[in-house]
Amino acid sequence: MDAAAVIGCLRDRSILITGSTGFLGKMLVEKILRVQPDVGKLYLLVRAPDAASAEHRVLTKVVETTLFDVLRTKHGADFNSFIKNKISPLPGDITKETCALRDSMVEQISKEIHVIVSVAATTSFYERYDVALASNTLGVAHVCDLAKKCANLKMLLHVSTAFVAGEQEGLLVEKPFDVGKALKKDYNLDIQSSDDKIEKRKMKKLGLKRARHFGWPNVYSLTKSMGEMLLGTLERDLPVVIVRPSIISSTFQEPMPGWTEGTRTMDMLYVTYNDQKLPCFIGERNVIVDVIPGDMVINALMVAMAIHWDTHGTQAIYHVTTGHRNPLHFSTFLESAYEYFRSNPRVTKDGRIVNDRRVKFFKKYTFFSFIHDPAV
Ligand SMILES: NC(=O)c1ccc[n+]([C@@H]2O[C@H](COP(=O)([O-])OP(=O)(O)OC[C@H]3O[C@@H](n4cnc5c(N)ncnc54)[C@H](OP(=O)(O)O)[C@@H]3O)[C@@H](O)[C@H]2O)c1
Repeated sequence: MDAAAVIGCLRDRSILITGSTGFLGKMLVEKILRVQPDVGKLYLLVRAPDAASAEHRVLTKVVETTLFDVLRTKHGADFNSFIKNKISPLPGDITKETCALRDSMVEQISKEIHVIVSVAATTSFYERYDVALASNTLGVAHVCDLAKKCANLKMLLHVSTAFVAGEQEGLLVEKPFDVGKALKKDYNLDIQSSDDKIEKRKMKKLGLKRARHFGWPNVYSLTKSMGEMLLGTLERDLPVVIVRPSIISSTFQEPMPGWTEGTRTMDMLYVTYNDQKLPCFIGERNVIVDVIPGDMVINALMVAMAIHWDTHGTQAIYHVTTGHRNPLHFSTFLESAYEYFRSNPRVTKDGRIVNDRRVKFFKKYTFFSFIHDPAV
């Protein structure tokens, strides 16, 4: 399928997107509007108490960011009217039934929406169990309930994570989870269980404890996995497509190279290296860091949308990763950073050139702690 066919698929289609105020969601909104100005409406469900606040959040957190500069230039003076015409912010919350949309709103949009792209999630690895469960697991069920009400819906596209695989090694098959089946052999999960009586401050510990008990490394990957399991509650003859990216990094090319936002997973390494606050690191130089540029994830989502459009009853899973085909070794990452800053030295405010130091690697924590023990 070529790019024109993928773009063509979006003409006159109305799409509901959750999570558009986040890193990946806004990239999806921007790309759709840039490549297919004749898309129908983009309904952006955002956390907000009312319509005015939802609109304010969409403007400030999405449309007014530098990510939209190319689109702004393309439309010039017509940019604001183009946005107003294409984007409809919806105040909602995926942790609530029907995603907290008012009945009248559900009634209105349910006839129009052709695709739901479920991007929203709580992305902190060590979130409280109840919070992560509400968004990443039960939130998926609420999106499915909403999908059931949308008479003209043609597909549900769900963004998950490659890390639902936990710490399993080797080549993994792209197959759906069995409901309630844990990663640890012979362990069964009770998805709905969240004991409200547990104190909130104990919920963080509980998340990690449950994740480890059932075979996942953290509460994020556990609750995202359980979210995938609940996609089965859709019970409609619709294509349900799950896309599982690995660590999403800044853009490769579109709409501009190197666009990113915030500091989350890998970004912490760039920032600390840039500030020369990363003298050493524990790890193997040869370890593969599975990162994928954000614009490539967006392209994969759009191709998945086009391919599975209206393919009744199929469920497909795609990993959007680099580790197998084009692996990035940690040593390559650090060498590239070193070479880059050697050719483009940073200069302090008072004109001093910052000298680059290579990062020392320690294979074992014992060596690392030995070097850092003030008593040594
Ligand atoms: N970033 C990565 O490296 C990565 C890798 C693999 C997979 N993913 C997946 O990609 C998706 C997007 O990740 P991201 O990096 O863009 O995350 P992000 O920047 O943290 O954005 C999360 C988005 O979800 C929204 N959200 C959270 N809880 C919600 C709720 N209860 N109701 C409605 N909206 C809610 C947030 O809204 P607010 O603005 O209101 O907080 C925000 O728009 C997630 O599903 C994540 O699991 C991300």
